[in-house]
Amino acid sequence: MAQIKNIGLFTSGGDAPGMNSAIRAVVRAALFHDIKVTGIRRGYEGMIHGDLFPMDRKSVSNIIQRGGTILKTARSEQFKTVEGRKLAYSQLKEFNVDALIAIGGDGTFRGAKAFGDEFDMPILGLPGTIDNDLMGTDFTIGYDTAINTVMNAVDKIRDTAESHDRLFIVEVMGRDSGMIALRTGIASGAEAILIPESKTGLTNLFDRLENGRKDKTSRIVIVAEGEGEEGGAFEIGRLVKEKFPNYDTRVSILGHIQRGGKPTCMDRVLASRVGVAAVEALMAGYRNEMVGVIHNEISFTPFEHAIKHNTDIDPNFLKIVEMLSL
Ligand code: F6P
Repeated sequence: MAQIKNIGLFTSGGDAPGMNSAIRAVVRAALFHDIKVTGIRRGYEGMIHGDLFPMDRKSVSNIIQRGGTILKTARSEQFKTVEGRKLAYSQLKEFNVDALIAIGGDGTFRGAKAFGDEFDMPILGLPGTIDNDLMGTDFTIGYDTAINTVMNAVDKIRDTAESHDRLFIVEVMGRDSGMIALRTGIASGAEAILIPESKTGLTNLFDRLENGRKDKTSRIVIVAEGEGEEGGAFEIGRLVKEKFPNYDTRVSILGHIQRGGKPTCMDRVLASRVGVAAVEALMAGYRNEMVGVIHNEISFTPFEHAIKHNTDIDPNFLKIVEMLSL
């Protein structure tokens, strides 16, 4: 096993709060072990175009608390082609990069898997996505910050809903995942949540509105972005208005505010732990795996398993929303 001398580091896909904390952890841990770090801007896109630069201790000063990613990010179509990946490999060789650490979500790891299969380049991944939809880690970097952002936003919506006796349909992110909706629904005392993993959401909601308590002054329904096929929350809002014209219904899409902001303590700690673990795992010969935390222990999951969309929704969470919003 060849000794690792120069780790190429990049963020890819949708950004997530805590990515900077992870970048800092990788750079500082690598330097601690006398390994160089080469930063790659804009993920696979920058790799293909040779946008690489050396990173030092100072280049990650004062970023642990900053949202976004100082390495920038992109979703690359070119990297999905063999030609694109060949170009990326030749750029890495040019800069003497002999291992990679990728911070991102399922798209990032799909690319990493293809690349690791085709070229002799050890590559490890850190779970960086607000969606919390990867297998092989209890939580992803960015999820805790995002759910706190949502909770605070919904608290504000609750204020105005209460003043006007309104029903609000609030759409949160998660194209194919109800993970954000699930926890924020409980935390904001929502009357119902609609997530792609459960097919009975809309029926339950209608039943609730039909037969539930009539003396409630405000109602919040949290809808995951992936729900409501064609029109998301607007479509659901339209159906509710049609069936229940007596409710004063409004739709609110939280959108990209969920991706920004200072990472929470939980996200900074998670990012720091997996960042250090990834550097040391590369040194120990690990490759083609995602580094996560399961039951508070560092864990390794092959990319092909990590990207199997985590639909493991605890039915108790759904029950809790229902029971507590009586
Ligand atoms: O994967 C993170 C995420 O924020 C999803 O929740 C959302 O569906 C998607 O990215 C939005 O992507 P974009 O910022 O490219 O519109």
